[in-house]
Amino acid sequence: MSAKQHSLDVPKGQAAVILPLSTNSKAQSSANTKNPAPRSKLFQRLFLLLSALCYAYFGYGLVYGRTHITHPSASDASTGVLATHGQQALKLKLGPLLPSEHSDVCPQPKTVHPSKHRELAEELDRLYADEAYKLKAYNALSGAVQIPTESYDDLGPVGEDPRWDTFAEFHEYLERTFPRVFETLKVTKVNTYGIVLHWQGSDEAALPVVMAAHQDVVPVEPATADDWIHPPYSGFFDGEWLWGRGSCDDKSDLVAGLQAIDALLERGFQPKRTFVWAYGFDEEASGVQGAGHLAPYLEETYGRDGVALILDEGGGAWGTQYGGDVIFAVPSLSEKGYLDVKIEVTTKGGHSSVPPKHTAVGLLSSMIVAIESEPHEAALVRGGGAYNSSQCAATYAPEYPERLRQLARDAVDSDSALEELRDALMDEFPRFEAVLRTTQAVDLVQGGVKVNALPEKVTAVVNHRIAEHSSVTELKEHFASVVVPVAARFNLSVNAFGKNVSAGNGKGGHVVLSDAFGTGLEPSPVTPMGTDDPYQILAGTIKATIASAKGYNASGVVVALLLQLGNTDTRYYWNLTRNIVRYKHLRDVDRYNGAHTVNEAVRARGWIESIRFFTKFILNCDEY
Ligand SMILES: *[C@@H]1O[C@H](CO)[C@@H](O)[C@H](O)[C@H]1NC(C)=O
Ligand SMILES: *[C@@H]1O[C@H](CO)[C@@H](O)[C@H](O)[C@H]1NC(C)=O
Ligand SMILES: *[C@@H]1O[C@H](CO)[C@@H](O)[C@H](O)[C@H]1NC(C)=O
Ligand SMILES: *[C@@H]1O[C@H](CO)[C@@H](O)[C@H](O)[C@H]1NC(C)=O
Ligand SMILES: *[C@@H]1O[C@H](CO)[C@@H](O)[C@H](O)[C@H]1NC(C)=O
Ligand SMILES: [Zn+2]
Repeated sequence: MSAKQHSLDVPKGQAAVILPLSTNSKAQSSANTKNPAPRSKLFQRLFLLLSALCYAYFGYGLVYGRTHITHPSASDASTGVLATHGQQALKLKLGPLLPSEHSDVCPQPKTVHPSKHRELAEELDRLYADEAYKLKAYNALSGAVQIPTESYDDLGPVGEDPRWDTFAEFHEYLERTFPRVFETLKVTKVNTYGIVLHWQGSDEAALPVVMAAHQDVVPVEPATADDWIHPPYSGFFDGEWLWGRGSCDDKSDLVAGLQAIDALLERGFQPKRTFVWAYGFDEEASGVQGAGHLAPYLEETYGRDGVALILDEGGGAWGTQYGGDVIFAVPSLSEKGYLDVKIEVTTKGGHSSVPPKHTAVGLLSSMIVAIESEPHEAALVRGGGAYNSSQCAATYAPEYPERLRQLARDAVDSDSALEELRDALMDEFPRFEAVLRTTQAVDLVQGGVKVNALPEKVTAVVNHRIAEHSSVTELKEHFASVVVPVAARFNLSVNAFGKNVSAGNGKGGHVVLSDAFGTGLEPSPVTPMGTDDPYQILAGTIKATIASAKGYNASGVVVALLLQLGNTDTRYYWNLTRNIVRYKHLRDVDRYNGAHTVNEAVRARGWIESIRFFTKFILNCDEY
């Protein structure tokens, strides 16, 4: 924390806080000029997947599909009784929400309000609505944002690389800001900077619920520092927005969780169920040091399949391009797989004055051209994340294109309609390609050291996000099948992922294909969403929180399902439970800009909803 940063620290127990904020009209007006209508702008971007907004994982909710369309403007004759039903719901302001019996293809959870803990929940809702409480909470988030816990791809082990030291400062900050939490809950540090908070419940038989968040943030690119309306580590609150790296991803969740625990502790709440918080510290750099160490610790402590449900960051609550004023909350029940493939080409060196026809760089280039010209197959799979989110949009988005809606309806049992829908989705939403395919991106190339020396060893790394219908093995086979013919043409021998394969005679050189960083990952297991599954409590809590939110101008809430395109820390947690949900209770309109870029900011009032959500989630899980 530099001296320049606003110190918004609050002494323990002090309710009201003086913030150097709302009075700063300059800050406000500059925010207004640069982004006059973030709300409508963001709305436009939503389901087009044009913006990743504040979360890192590009887990977009594209929601379309089978439909009893519910909007009065829809003229489809087949909407029938259910449509009437929906129309009524849509006309009501966030009261009854959309009915749950609505759709087989996008079944809606029941709204779950705390019942045994109803009074406590209401009391805390009142607390969270209190302006002094809010300011204190903003302060806590601001202070967390001010500590630049950046993680980098090339960090060495904890204890060796001094760049980790900032996390020690972050821990001190959390302990100082939430003394009640850190004194009451059992705190375990894993691999120095991983944090596990254990809140023991009285019922030993109830499996614990784990909530995850990450302490690290993506670095601020120095060249972009001037593009920030307020400095990236200022934690500046301008009366509406709280600015800074981590304000959305993911200190928002981390601090909101702590606020919720603190408020519950303060009211003397003693859980029946055990609750655990697990905070990794290098999620933005593959999670090896953080979640990679937390996972075995948690498995040792709670056992294999010893956890009821894990909630980690993910998609939020969104408007949609076609959604009108219906809010789509998009938890994700699965995420894509991952593989970085390294291609290494080795050839004889020599002087550039007598070159071969193709240098190693040229050979590698031929392979890259071949790879890019053979993209992976796009598939829309019934019951998969992309299909589900399409069906949800088609069912509940009032302004969804009728052609897609009809296709989605037919695709439920017609294979040809399913294929047509797949193509239509990619036409309508170009970025849907990334959802339906294993994506490939040649991101790193290395080779050549001197202009008069032939390169002897050159490499490229191709990043892949593996589609739900594919696998690491299938991807490797595809990759080798594209590279081998090229290698054969140039007499290069090939070792593909540890196996010598039949290709060229080796006179031209050698090619090695490998998992570049040993981080290959299958597409995740899919979280069950049956009526008795823990998912229902989570989804029902989302509905309850939105339904009881003040100032939301929405006519309905749909809990849609989403395929997460990137990976969260949960990639390490598969052994703990099948019930993993990735979701951040933060609306698009409450995020100023996209994730991992300039001007990360959260609308402070909108973020209070995260605290309300965590509180209700804890109380609901405790009753369940
Ligand atoms: C899609 O929805 C169906 C129920 O309609 C569910 O069984 C399935 O698990 C869901 N898949 C994903 C990936 O969310
Ligand atoms: C590959 O090797 C064969 C046999 O040695 C040779 O005839 C041919 O010219 C080589 N091709 C290339 C492209 O180097
Ligand atoms: C694979 O080929 C390399 C040389 O190209 C050779 O050194 C190695 O022994 C071979 N491995 C197997 C298992 O055949
Ligand atoms: C709420 O939405 C309606 C219809 O979408 C709009 O006319 C109205 O201005 C909105 N109100 C606010 C406060 O945003
Ligand atoms: C999950 O369990 C398997 C089998 O015991 C083990 O090999 C693997 O390392 C575990 N995964 C993680 C991420 O801990
Ligand atoms: Zn994140």
